[in-house]
Amino acid sequence: MERTKILVTGGAGYIGSHATVELYNAGFLPVIVDNFSNSQESVLGGIEKILGVKVPFHNIDCNDEEALRAVFAEEGNLRGVIHFAAFKAVGESMVKPLEYYRNNVGSLLTLVSVMREFGVEALVFSSSCTVYGTPDQLPVTEQTPTKKANSPYGATKQMCEDILQDIAAVPGQTSRTILLRYFNPVGAHASAEIGELPLGVPQNLVPYVTQTAAGIREQLTINGDTYDTPDGTNIRDYVHVVDLAKAHVVAVQRLLDKKGETIETFNVGTGHGNSVLEVVQAFERATGVKLNYKIGPPRPGDVPAIYADVTKATAELGFKTSATLEEALASSWKWQQHLSQR
Ligand code: NAD
Ligand code: WQD
Repeated sequence: MERTKILVTGGAGYIGSHATVELYNAGFLPVIVDNFSNSQESVLGGIEKILGVKVPFHNIDCNDEEALRAVFAEEGNLRGVIHFAAFKAVGESMVKPLEYYRNNVGSLLTLVSVMREFGVEALVFSSSCTVYGTPDQLPVTEQTPTKKANSPYGATKQMCEDILQDIAAVPGQTSRTILLRYFNPVGAHASAEIGELPLGVPQNLVPYVTQTAAGIREQLTINGDTYDTPDGTNIRDYVHVVDLAKAHVVAVQRLLDKKGETIETFNVGTGHGNSVLEVVQAFERATGVKLNYKIGPPRPGDVPAIYADVTKATAELGFKTSATLEEALASSWKWQQHLSQR
């Protein structure tokens, strides 16, 4: 039987590469589009090693309408799109707002126009818990009001959500969309062939932890321990990237099964918060490696605590987390060791 083709923009990236693997394993044919602005070509080799086949790939910029059109025309029968391609570094977005708005909002507009032209209706969009800002109540549900973003990056996610909501509100337009609001993805594929590949100094906690453990960084600095949380460090909802990737497969299938216009939003996290210190301790337990860390000042703009209510994703997408935090961190460590040997 012929596989259903799904376009995966940003498929060479951290989450996109794992979603590509899960889509293929579920019987789809993922077609990757990426311009390697934040990834490396070697990721495609990792995917091929896991799957035993090369998936179709196009090296284009999603802002390039002509090039995107050519991909849709060449592939012929795309049934849906998962749009991962975006810039994602919060700090960088503060100093390069134009680049972030242009890439993140611009690529969505271009993509949706081309989808419409080719009659492709199903879209899964990578949104983020950043849309909730600093929430007044925990855990956050999909109904929790969004707050003014505290970075241009966060603003791009809110804008993209608003654009997709406005498009979906026009009667008679057949667009079917799922907005997935990810919490903090961590971990790597069990094979250690793909994982998070930060270019330069990592901005996120777990790659900083694994690089410190590997001796690439001297010391982890915990960003503050005087927050109003049980141990004073920030609380986040760390979700295994493979569990997150699987949510995309279910979301795409749900859109393909639906008729008429629809737009839905889902939190994708574990439903459980862990502090930064708990992550450090879990890493040490999971790997047996002692981590060199110190407590530093709070990082400007950090939300003290956020974690998801995943009741909706559990009930409607059948989403469940299969990995514990320790298992996720062990997989990140295995990936880091694999990288260090390359
Ligand atoms: P990533 O940087 O690893 O992957 C994004 C991929 O998109 C990269 O391979 C990059 O080269 C590509 N890309 C960027 N702009 C492009 C363009 N214009 N044309 C073609 N390719 C382009 O990031 P990720 O962690 O895999 O995140 C994927 C998506 O999920 C992003 O939209 C991000 O904002 C969102 N998200 C990520 C997190 C997280 O913590 N990682 C959390 C919430 C939401
Ligand atoms: C986690 C915790 C840090 C590094 C970001 C984006 C968010 C979403 C997910 C995309 C925080 C602490 C970190 C370090 C530390 N991405 N930390 N020392 O900030 O929760 O969320 O990624 O949509 O929008 O903001 O993730 O991994 O940077 O930090 O103490 O060296 O670890 O302060 O409490 P964050 P993170």
